[in-house]
Amino acid sequence: MHPNEAMDELMTCRLDQARKAVGPCTLVIFGASGDLTARKLIPALYHLSKDGQMPADFRIVGFARRAKSAAEWRAELREALTAYSRSQPVDEAVWETFAQRVDYCEGDLTDPTAYVKLAGVIGAFPTPELRQNLLFYLATSPSQFSVVAEQLHVAQLLHRDGHGYWQRLVIEKPFGHDLETARELNHELTRFAHEQQVFRIDHYLGKETVQNILTFRFANSIFERLWNRDAVDHIQITVSEKIGVGSRGGYYEESGALRDMLQNHLMQVLALVTMEPPVSLDAEPIRDEKVKLLSSVRRLQPGQVADHVVRGQYCEGFVSGEAQAAYRDELKVNPQSDVETFVAVKLFIDNWRWAGVPIYLRTGKAMPLSASEVRVQFKPTPNVLFAAQCGPLLDANALTLRLQPDEGISLRFTGKVPGVGYGLRPVRMNFSYDSEFGAYTPEAYERLLLDAIAGDATLFIRRDEVEQAWEIADSIRAGWDARPLDPHEFYPAGNWGPHLADTLLTQSGRAWREPRNP
Ligand code: BG6
Repeated sequence: MHPNEAMDELMTCRLDQARKAVGPCTLVIFGASGDLTARKLIPALYHLSKDGQMPADFRIVGFARRAKSAAEWRAELREALTAYSRSQPVDEAVWETFAQRVDYCEGDLTDPTAYVKLAGVIGAFPTPELRQNLLFYLATSPSQFSVVAEQLHVAQLLHRDGHGYWQRLVIEKPFGHDLETARELNHELTRFAHEQQVFRIDHYLGKETVQNILTFRFANSIFERLWNRDAVDHIQITVSEKIGVGSRGGYYEESGALRDMLQNHLMQVLALVTMEPPVSLDAEPIRDEKVKLLSSVRRLQPGQVADHVVRGQYCEGFVSGEAQAAYRDELKVNPQSDVETFVAVKLFIDNWRWAGVPIYLRTGKAMPLSASEVRVQFKPTPNVLFAAQCGPLLDANALTLRLQPDEGISLRFTGKVPGVGYGLRPVRMNFSYDSEFGAYTPEAYERLLLDAIAGDATLFIRRDEVEQAWEIADSIRAGWDARPLDPHEFYPAGNWGPHLADTLLTQSGRAWREPRNP
């Protein structure tokens, strides 16, 4: 290790214990036969066990309709680990100990007797903590969230007052389909559990680089003082994916890019990048600031949507040289579908800090690159000296937070090209997670599951956050008003959305920056 690195290690300031304080508990996974369980939840729980992060004692109970024994479910999970674990080969000793804690309960989500059976399985565990500290993970379709909560309540597994024990519900997006349905769902859930017992997952918040946004802003003094309308020209947030909708056509037809990505992941990143400093690092103050920020995002009137929002749908094309079918030809997609697979939005935040600064967000499928990043574009220098001579060739400073892949942060500034002549060009200062910290990147679900077990709600979405984000998304949808897509709203797969998305910026002399080109 380089002496500087050793010194940096000594200067690490820990805000928590290396190991979270988590007590014995039972995790019940509803939707145990599903994709999320195999791909994300079990690999995450296995890694937490491997790293010694799980409670000293815990049980996992899978709940699903398919008839199978606990041994059969364990065998399926073992295969899932081979397929999806981030570290290979699977450590057999860790797996053996893990597998002994895994049980299975067959049942229909709507059948009250299935919950009696579940209560029987849990009731047979040896300690009061394992029987009463319960984390219910609802990896089910959202239409079943309330029935599961209700049945758990009826079976006396979910209590609003735990009398020294705790029960929590973890739910996955989509939290509703629009503001109205989100409110209904929230209302339903709070009939059986307090808001503090409901943990809404947005897996973007579990990403290391997304968590680093607040550290970057509030643990450094030089950037935050530039983080406002005086210094910032505009902000771009891009979350692009090379993949099309693949086998998820059925789900996507109900959702589209606005509901699938913008309402949740992009709004969360936006909130973290632009919110005010919270009064402390606790969950509620951070969530209060996010809500405040989202409530100051200007709602678009239906007549303004055409000028502020561009939507698109991919038609056939090539992504990195591979043929990609048109969205309308994907499995379970209506051949006349008008669902958007791309959306770009120009937003304004009507608060003191950001008044007048455009914030551009875009997300899409079948794009040229898979990349998520935030770009803070600073204002140009005054038009004297270098700027006067170089004109538009003199680039303004920009700071890019690369959320994934090639995680890191870079600052772009102008430097002199070495030599006897006088040439200027953009150069970069680059921080890369990989070279600074090595390749360790825990999966978002590891962090989120551990936090849910520990009862730390900081990285989960509060009811009012969800509702604010839906208000913004709904205001956009209202402008589309069920209007079919125009021919110029289609883009060939492998492009950055329809050309109109460029116009959103070029009309004010700006341009999208291609990710990975800081
Ligand atoms: C999910 C969306 O929430 O996020 C998917 O439903 C999308 O459509 C995925 O592909 C992207 O997540 P990540 O972590 O791969 O950026």
